[in-house]
Amino acid sequence: MRTIHITASTNYDVLIGTGLIDKSGELTAKVVKPCRCMIVADDTVDELYGDRVQISFSYAGFDARRFAFPAGEASKNLDTLGDILTAMGEAGLSRSDLVVALGGGVTGDMAGFAAAIYARGIRFVQVPTTLLAAVDSSVGGKTAVDMPFGKNMVGAFHQPSLVVTDTDVLRDLPAEQLSNGAAEAVKCGVLNDPELFALLETGDWQGRVDEVVARCVTYKRDVVARDEFDTGERALLNLGHTFGHAIEVCSNLTVLHGQAVGAGTLMAAAYAGCPEAMLRRVSDCLKANGLPTRFPYPAPALARAALSDKKRAGGVITLVLPLEIGRCELQKLPVDQLPACFEKALNVLEALDL
Ligand code: GLY
Repeated sequence: MRTIHITASTNYDVLIGTGLIDKSGELTAKVVKPCRCMIVADDTVDELYGDRVQISFSYAGFDARRFAFPAGEASKNLDTLGDILTAMGEAGLSRSDLVVALGGGVTGDMAGFAAAIYARGIRFVQVPTTLLAAVDSSVGGKTAVDMPFGKNMVGAFHQPSLVVTDTDVLRDLPAEQLSNGAAEAVKCGVLNDPELFALLETGDWQGRVDEVVARCVTYKRDVVARDEFDTGERALLNLGHTFGHAIEVCSNLTVLHGQAVGAGTLMAAAYAGCPEAMLRRVSDCLKANGLPTRFPYPAPALARAALSDKKRAGGVITLVLPLEIGRCELQKLPVDQLPACFEKALNVLEALDL
């Protein structure tokens, strides 16, 4: 088992290893005195892993309850959040009790936000069951729900007390879910880690998923330690997200987040003027991981969609631009230049047939 220690307003460990889901209660009991807990999952994950996690927590001495909501990004809203909070209230959770977020990014964000606001804030533990959650969203304390006026627009920074990542669960994911998470790992490689990028380029890293997760979490640990509340450097973690967010909005959220971030990373590199050889490497890396490189939305529609991004501050949006594999920089762009920005990125990719 690998342990990565996160230093933030709450310090905690990220545990990565095989067979951890059945030890999630025992591992949690080492950092949280057994208490009442609410295990929150979507109905798909609840069916797959709810019993095992509940048994593990009960065995470790927790009074473990469960709440499941309908799977999908469409559930990530105030209504579902209200249902989670009501279930917690009806189960009699107090300020010293615990939420367990069992699932992917939607569950982690929403259960984490419920923990952040219930009784003015209680502890929570993340048990990510998707690669995307394991490499990114379960670490760093961002919690939120989507609103009609934008994704993740209402939320809070609330660090978990522990993250338990079972790599057997990740290896059992359907191919589409693995690809979706691989995109965030590709992002991490382009941002900071040429060796990780080279591993992902092979498309044959599933036997080394613990290493992929550990490398991404280690980088995120360093960024979060320096900028927990996202006022500066943490914006780098949004590589591919401005372009990707626009793709997600244009698709009415039918394109998965990772798929959009992967294509968005390539668009960012194209806009940044990266050399053809690097663009081909990024494009080939996405393809090697079953990810699309382009979507059929025109630049004006993408630019309009990008305006609903919460990363926009006033009339300016901060782009993350790759310089080389393993190095990126932040660049501010007036929002009225977004149409030209999307146009340039799409033209470059079109010309190179990427
Ligand atoms: N997922 C980006 C961040 O945690 O800042």
